[in-house]
Amino acid sequence: MSANKKLGLRYGIKKSDELWRRALKVIATGTQTFSRSPGVFPDGAAPKYVIRQKGSHVWDVDGNEFIDMVMGCGPTTLGHNYEPINEAIKKQMDKGILFSLLNPLEVEVAEKLVECIPCAEMLKFSKNGSDVCAAAVRLARAVTGKEMILCYGYHGFQDWYIGSTDRNAGVPKCVRELTKSFRYNDISGLSKMFEQYHGRVAAVIMEPVIAEKPKDDFLNKVKALAHENGALLIFDEMISGFRFRMGGAQEFFNVVPDLATFGKGITNGMPLGVIAGKRKYMKNFDKAFLSSTYAPEALTLAAASAVIDFYKENDVIAKLWEKGEYLEKGLRAIIDRHGVGKNVSLAGYPVRLMVNTHDSNGIHNLNLATLYQQEMFKEGILCFAGVLMLSYSHSREDLDCFIDSFDKACVVIKNAVESGDDIAKFLRCKPGSPVFKGLRERNAVSN
Ligand SMILES: Cc1ncc(COP(=O)(O)O)c(C=O)c1O
Repeated sequence: MSANKKLGLRYGIKKSDELWRRALKVIATGTQTFSRSPGVFPDGAAPKYVIRQKGSHVWDVDGNEFIDMVMGCGPTTLGHNYEPINEAIKKQMDKGILFSLLNPLEVEVAEKLVECIPCAEMLKFSKNGSDVCAAAVRLARAVTGKEMILCYGYHGFQDWYIGSTDRNAGVPKCVRELTKSFRYNDISGLSKMFEQYHGRVAAVIMEPVIAEKPKDDFLNKVKALAHENGALLIFDEMISGFRFRMGGAQEFFNVVPDLATFGKGITNGMPLGVIAGKRKYMKNFDKAFLSSTYAPEALTLAAASAVIDFYKENDVIAKLWEKGEYLEKGLRAIIDRHGVGKNVSLAGYPVRLMVNTHDSNGIHNLNLATLYQQEMFKEGILCFAGVLMLSYSHSREDLDCFIDSFDKACVVIKNAVESGDDIAKFLRCKPGSPVFKGLRERNAVSN
C-alpha cells in the first residue's frame, strides 16, 4: 500500500480487466496506441483504463488514483484538464470547430510558432506526429531528388519509418530498403553510411536527444555531414519541443536543422502535428503534397494559441527544468544510497529523464523493468519503465511521492537481484512486452 493513503491499487483492477476482455473482441490489437497498452504497463499490476484526469493525477475505472508520469504519452505539458487551455477550447467551440474556408487562427498560431522555433520560417499543420514526419521526409526527397533516409529515434507509423523496424508487415520491400537507422553519438558510423549510400541520401531525420546526451559536438557534426552530402537535416522534436525549450532541442543546443517536426507539447493534449523549416525548402510543398481535411481544426489551434501564451507568461520551461532537476537529484541519491546503480540508472536531461533497468553489463532487462513498474504502480505512480513525462502541474508533493516510491522500488529490486533467483519470480503480473524489439537496447525509444 502506498505511503500516500489515497494513491495506488486500492480497489483492484477488475473493471479494467473486464473492459480489456471486451476490447479484445472488437478492437484490433485491443488498443489505438501500443504505448498505452498492457505489456507496456504491467498486465495484472496496473490499471488499463483511465476515466478522469486533473492536473498531474489520474483516476482509473476501478476508482484508483495515481500520480501520472506519462501525461497522455507526452503532450500534456501543462497538466490534465488545464483550466486556461480548456477555457480557450470552450470559447472556440462556440464559434466553430471545422470551417468551410480558411480560418484566422491558422495564421495567428503559425506566426506565434515561427517566432519561437529557430528553424521555422514557414510551417504547415497536420493532425499527428507520424504525418508530419512523413511529410518532412517527402519534402526532403522532393527537394534533393534522392530517396534514402537515415534515422534515429521513433518517427511514427508511416511506411517510410515503420518499414525499418521489426513491425514492418505490409510495407513493401523496396520502401523498407530506403530507410536505415544509425546510432547516436557514432559520427564515424553515420559517415560510413553516407559512404555506403553515396549520393543517395535525401535526409537525416533524428530525435535530437533521447537518453544519451550528445557528445563531442555530435549534432553539429551530423548537420555538417548531411550538408556535405547534399542531404537535409530534420529534427523530430515531437517530445523535445516545448520541453527543452519552446523552440525544442534545436534552441537548447543551438543547432538549427533545415526542417523540424513538432506536435506534442504545443497543445496540452489536442491533436496537432507541425512541419516547420526554412522557406527555401518549405515552399516546395507546392509540389510535395500535404493536405488534410482536419489539419486546421480550430479547437486544437485555439489550444495551441493559449498554450504558447501561457508558456511565455508563466515561464513554463524554467519550471519544467526546476522540477526535473529536483527529481533527478532525489532519484540519484536513492540509487547511490541503495547501491543499485548496476541495475537502475538515470539517463537524459531533467526535462526528459529516463529510468533504465538493466543487468550488471548495462543490457536492458525487461523483467527488471516490469518489476520496477509493478512496485511503482503499487505505490500509486503511473509510469513507463523509461521516460518520465513531467508537467507544469506536478507539485513538490507529487515529486516527493515519486521519489519515495522509487526508494521502495529500489529496495525490492535490490533484494530480487541479490537473491540470485530468476527476476520473473518476483513478478505478480505478466512480464512486459516492448512495442519494438531492439530499439530500447539502442537507446532509440523512450518507453
Ligand atoms: C519523436 C516522435 N516522433 C513521432 C511520433 C509519432 O507521433 P504520433 O503518434 O502523433 O503520430 C512520436 C509519438 O510518440 C514521437 O515520440
